[in-house]
Amino acid sequence: MARLSVNVDHVATVRQARLANEPDPVEAALRAETAGADGITVHLREDRRHIQDRDLLLLRRTVKTRLNLEMAATEEMHSIALEVKPDMVTLVPEKRQELTTEGGLDLRTHTESLKRFVASLRDASIDVNLFIDPVPDAVKMSHRIGASGVEVHTGLYAEARTARDRIVELKRISDSVMLAKRLGLKVHAGHGLDYHNIKDIASIREIEEFAIGFSIIARSIYTGIEEAVREMVRLVS
Ligand code: PXP
Repeated sequence: MARLSVNVDHVATVRQARLANEPDPVEAALRAETAGADGITVHLREDRRHIQDRDLLLLRRTVKTRLNLEMAATEEMHSIALEVKPDMVTLVPEKRQELTTEGGLDLRTHTESLKRFVASLRDASIDVNLFIDPVPDAVKMSHRIGASGVEVHTGLYAEARTARDRIVELKRISDSVMLAKRLGLKVHAGHGLDYHNIKDIASIREIEEFAIGFSIIARSIYTGIEEAVREMVRLVS
């Protein structure tokens, strides 16, 4: 049965719109766990546009499941990860102008420095996943770099507008997932998944965990976060 890690970034997005104290992503995380989430994900961005350092520190003290920190492979984030010690780090590419993460990591350009980066986090008992596009080369490079696993980018699948495009993307994802499994990597997936498109992708049994944020937080406005999480847990599993 696949696990669900709930990304609470967009609770912080609403708070930051008014630089207020609420809604609090820490409370959202606790409620998500109560509703059955298997983990909590936050992306601490360089520009701190949503999650703040204070959120991360409090989440580390309060999350009872698994805390996954999405971050760029920078010196600053490296120090923060070693200090906070999340259960897992997911390395993502980050651009200041983007609305959200736009694609997988380029693993060919900085292979050696990424190897060192990943090794030092793993030495501190932090699992390290690499966020990659669903292509064989990225899976093989992740293995060579020494990652614990991969998070396969599902953005193109989520954006596919025709049944044919969706099938093509699903096949790319499924091939990458199988290859990652064969190489002994942990396999997660995420980005752009919602209550409709989750069904087909959740049928790929080898995917161990889904990281889902926007659709759950959007639905919580109408249903409350507990109901939104419960329904996604049901669909994922
Ligand atoms: N996985 C990664 C690596 C991401 O960067 C994001 C967005 O922060 C997600 C999953 C969640 O994507 P969404 O908010 O579209 O569900």
